[in-house]
Amino acid sequence: MCFILLGISALSACTEPPEEIKVTAVEYTDAEDFLLQGFKSVPDSSGKSLPAVVIIPDWNGVNTYEQQRATMMADDLGYVGFAADIYGINDQVVEDFNRKVELATLYRSNVTLYVQRIKAAVELVKTFSEVDPDRVAVIGYCFGGTGVIDYSLTGQDDVVALVSFHGGLTMLPDESLTDENSPKLLVLSGGDDDASSDVIDLENTLGSANWDITRYSGIRHTFTVWGSADYDKVAEERSWHSMTTFLSEAFGLTSYSGNQPSVANVETVNYEDIDGTDLQSYLAMPDDAFPIHPAVVILPNWDNVNEYEKERATMLAEHGYIALAADLYGADLQREFTVSEKAQYATKYRSDPELYIQRIQRSIDFVLSLPEVDPDNVALIGYCLGGTGVFEYAYSGSADVKVAVSFHGGHQDLPRPSVPIVPHVLVLSGGIDDAHGNQTKMEESLNERDASWEITRYSNVNHGYTSWSNPAYNVVADARSWDSMMTTLSSIMPVPEDEEKVGQKGKKKSIGKDGKKGSNDVGGKKPGKKGGKKPGKKGGKKRRNL
Ligand SMILES: *[C@@H]1O[C@H](CO)[C@@H](O)[C@H](O)[C@H]1NC(C)=O
Ligand SMILES: *[C@@H]1O[C@H](CO)[C@@H](O)[C@H](O)[C@H]1NC(C)=O
Repeated sequence: MCFILLGISALSACTEPPEEIKVTAVEYTDAEDFLLQGFKSVPDSSGKSLPAVVIIPDWNGVNTYEQQRATMMADDLGYVGFAADIYGINDQVVEDFNRKVELATLYRSNVTLYVQRIKAAVELVKTFSEVDPDRVAVIGYCFGGTGVIDYSLTGQDDVVALVSFHGGLTMLPDESLTDENSPKLLVLSGGDDDASSDVIDLENTLGSANWDITRYSGIRHTFTVWGSADYDKVAEERSWHSMTTFLSEAFGLTSYSGNQPSVANVETVNYEDIDGTDLQSYLAMPDDAFPIHPAVVILPNWDNVNEYEKERATMLAEHGYIALAADLYGADLQREFTVSEKAQYATKYRSDPELYIQRIQRSIDFVLSLPEVDPDNVALIGYCLGGTGVFEYAYSGSADVKVAVSFHGGHQDLPRPSVPIVPHVLVLSGGIDDAHGNQTKMEESLNERDASWEITRYSNVNHGYTSWSNPAYNVVADARSWDSMMTTLSSIMPVPEDEEKVGQKGKKKSIGKDGKKGSNDVGGKKPGKKGGKKPGKKGGKKRRNL
């Protein structure tokens, strides 16, 4: 069963194969008249000019799995799905191991042939009366994911989007791609499947083409294949969701606009650090009647807390989270800084992790002291310098936060402590942002500390891409990274309404490394009605650890 949640973005969260496969077989040939047979699935409400998704099978041929995915395209997403044939009508369901190796090797080693077979399916689908030929995408699983990457690397531009699920990353051409207008490629990769060095090589080869790459920690090869030993429900759902929003944008069904709120809706709160520094932070409260809420602490970038963090706090409160835009430098250091001042203060905290962590802890303690906050459900997020702070805090071994999110954080120098990392770590960064540091080192460092993590990189995106006033602002990366955070929060620490929904569905899930199974609910909720309840004066009165 699949269902749709509306909220931050439309989401179809599928956890199980469709009950019924709804496909019809279609025979076709490639450019060399080689006979193929694919399987087409059309939404019930057809007759319109629909987007279409060609599905390239894994190494055992175009069988039940691909037909199920084609059915999901039609039933859940409203697209024409087409499970493509690569091996030919005589090798539709390949069960013999040696034959699988033989066939997969043939196509892996002859990219011309493989691309020709994919193209045959793309061209066929464009002739379907239900299909808009300008809105065709190709996705693929395992061996099929390799084909999708080949299709991208050979510069095919007859589709609008390409998605590779656990595809092979090894055979890379020498030349890097340079076309920023190439079809968008989304690569979804298991952290224990592909070596991070292969992913970096892929990034470098894709160059300035249009790509997103997401890595999921602890995930092995066939994580989307129901019933396989490496199946992972959370990674499957998150990758399906990521594909869903990616395709929706590529098909022109979603257009992102800057999500900046017109005005920040926050209450000033004052408290002291343990070293006596006066701190002035800003609290945004959800406008609902629930007595208790999950909470998010926001660490500022290098010009300390200002309108930017207050507006992010407001956005979180609109989605049901109590959010604190935290003061880092002190109440008397909230103003326009010169660049050299910003560098001076950032350096002070970067070079003194103990002070930085203490300051962060004080903000977390303040939030924990609020009676409206569920102390078991607090997240820490940060932008730029704040992302560095998120890592320092996660590496400190604290169990006070459940989720740690870094947006374009500075991670060139990773923290040193070698205690296990408790929160789920989400890293969202620009593909041309040097501040991200060496991803191989980052993954090694997180794995050594037993962290649960997810890392997404966006091509041609630079440092500061979420900051509305920054020249680096990138509306798509901003929207996609925000959605990635919100779906993660909603999955691990849902707001009260989400819990109700989860209750109704009788399912529950978390992304954490404990391997607990989880809910379908990675979609967030609709913003609450505005007006009414104010943050009130309780902030700053009750304190923990004074
Ligand atoms: C690869 O496949 C193409 C298309 O069938 C064929 O023309 C070519 O000879 C093949 N290359 C090799 C090295 O077998
Ligand atoms: C990144 O780190 C890895 C592992 O330490 C190392 O092998 C690699 O050379 C580094 N890459 C660069 C570009 O420095």
